[in-house]
Parts: sequence; structure tokens; C-alpha cells
Amino acid sequence: MPVFVPVASNGEIPAGSAKTVIVGDREIALFNIGGAYYATESTCPHQGGPLAEGSIEGSIVTCPWHAWCFDVRTGKMTLGEFAYVEVFDVEVRDSAILVSLEPRP
Ligand code: FES
Repeated sequence: MPVFVPVASNGEIPAGSAKTVIVGDREIALFNIGGAYYATESTCPHQGGPLAEGSIEGSIVTCPWHAWCFDVRTGKMTLGEFAYVEVFDVEVRDSAILVSLEPRP
């Protein structure tokens, strides 16, 4: 059974934005896409750019450093299959947003 940890308050991250949070010993990028939350590893697999600081259009985040793009719902890169980011399940319980300690398999 996955373990979830609270990382933010519901309402703290406006729709269309993201925040870097700590989950266990990892940094995670937590996105609000139209009111639904998604979590990915926080650093871009290209050269480590901060994905939570990227621009967001729909469910696609564009890395602020060299513009690699990822779908935050799946972790898939939009330019090809040679890179991806790990994704983590997210739950909202009462007023808290919780993220799974382990990535989705
Ligand atoms: S570090 Fe993200 S595209 Fe280069």
C-alpha cells in the first residue's frame, strides 16, 4: 500500500502553476492543472532544470532552461521517447495535498 505524505494545502497552488515540495528525501514538482494536482520529479532529465519553474500550458510543462516538454499526467516527453520524468500519485484529503513517497511504476 503506497504511503502518502502531506506537502501543501489545497488552494495554495493556483491553477496553471506549480511548486517544488519535499517528499521524503526527494524534491517533487507539484502542478495544479485546472484544479487537478499532478506530481513529477522536480529536475529535468536533460541538465537538471527546475520543472516547477517551467511554463505550463494545459498539462504540458516546458523546462525553463532548454525547453524540453513533458506531460505532467504521464511523465512522457512530448518531443520523443528518449526521456521522461517519474510521476507520483497525488491525493487531496480534507484541506491537504498528499504525494506518494514512491513513483508510479
Ligand atoms: S535542463 Fe531542461 S531542457 Fe535542458
